[in-house]
Amino acid sequence: MWKGRFQEQTAELLQTYSESISFDWRLWPFDIAGSIAHAAALEKAGLITKAEWEAIASGLRQIGEEIAAGQFVFKAELEDIHMNIEAELTRRIGDAGAKLHTARSRNDQVALDIRLCLREESDRILALLKAMQDALVELAGRYEHVVIPGYTHLQRAQPVFFAHHLLAYVEMFARDCERLDDCRKRINVFPLGSGAIAGSTILLDRALVAELLGFPSLTQNSMDAVSDRDFAIELLSALAIVAMHLSRLSEDVILWASSEFRFLTLSDAFTTGSSLMPQKKNPDVAELTRGKTGRVYGNLMSLLTLMKGLPMTYNRDMQEDKEAIFDSIDTVKAALGVFAPMLREAVVNEQSCAAAVADPNLLATDLADYLVNHGVPFRKAHEVVGKAVALCAQRRCELTELSVQDYQGLSSAFGADVLDVLRVERSMAARQAVGAPSPANVAAQLARWRTRLQAGGAQ
Ligand code: ARG
Repeated sequence: MWKGRFQEQTAELLQTYSESISFDWRLWPFDIAGSIAHAAALEKAGLITKAEWEAIASGLRQIGEEIAAGQFVFKAELEDIHMNIEAELTRRIGDAGAKLHTARSRNDQVALDIRLCLREESDRILALLKAMQDALVELAGRYEHVVIPGYTHLQRAQPVFFAHHLLAYVEMFARDCERLDDCRKRINVFPLGSGAIAGSTILLDRALVAELLGFPSLTQNSMDAVSDRDFAIELLSALAIVAMHLSRLSEDVILWASSEFRFLTLSDAFTTGSSLMPQKKNPDVAELTRGKTGRVYGNLMSLLTLMKGLPMTYNRDMQEDKEAIFDSIDTVKAALGVFAPMLREAVVNEQSCAAAVADPNLLATDLADYLVNHGVPFRKAHEVVGKAVALCAQRRCELTELSVQDYQGLSSAFGADVLDVLRVERSMAARQAVGAPSPANVAAQLARWRTRLQAGGAQ
């Protein structure tokens, strides 16, 4: 492409070192769509004839079909997807192909291709997040009445509905959708026409090309447009947060599937056995998802670090953005894609949940609240119930096994109905604040999410 300036061939070592076709080939649909739209502006400006425009468009479409069919041979010596496609087009249609790169640089071309790619991939990820929310809501709804211990510090804290626990993740994924949606606005800005750095002396109708490609607005500074990867960093950071949420859910699933918890049984289809221990059934999907979070974080750090020292404007370093971007997209899509069906096949072990939630200590706070309702200041009530728990530890019994007299010995505010407080149903029914897990609240939240997800919006 630059044979005019150079007398010697590029060293093979450099070709191998600098090629990006091995990973940027997947930008082909966007490169072709971008070039067809660009050619429309060339035609409008009278720089190519209608016949040339048609030759370019049909030539590019044909190349696209061949790539899609796996029949196109990419050449490393042509470096990247942009030059592979342009060179082949020119080989096929001659001069019209050689006119395609008028008023365009690979710097604005690659910016366009990545933006088109990320716009499409964000939409796919949004759909997968919605499917994930659907699976969580479905599982929550299937076990709407199951209560489990809620944990802080991984110590039993207070009872919660299993559905309430799952709906917490639905909220997280809703915020992830909002972040992706917001990031999409900044992805969806049209950079072509910025040229290599300073636009072009040849005036093309940028707005026309933007419209053909569905962009609502144009970049306003050519230098910024060719050197900006903020939108990709934003996407990678939004994906890092998605991965973090998936990783936390993974951790819960791994704990729940353990013999110690036994809250959840994963289906055979989504677990693996051991080559040595015949009894094993391992939650590999969740473990891999937790593990893959590391590379999604790493990709974000790579891109931030890649960009931090670059002087304006385009620098070849930026070619290194793609593998990080693609890897985060592929990793998060794969994780969401396998997690949702795994959850749909999961079975909750209601007996184990009931056994765990029968721990009366989960209701110690309820006892303190009882005292507050009988006029005891909360700090004092906390101390009294603490003493009751200590007494149980000493006697090796449960709060339910202390007598009314035992309670009254600790505080005269305890009435004959004190043991009634230690019922889980009563505790759940009382948790009526907005956001708290009373049965009515959880039912209302399930209904709210079902309606929202059916309406198509993931938030
Ligand atoms: N393969 C390059 C990249 O991915 C395309 C842009 C090349 N531009 C240049 N001036 N060498 O960044």
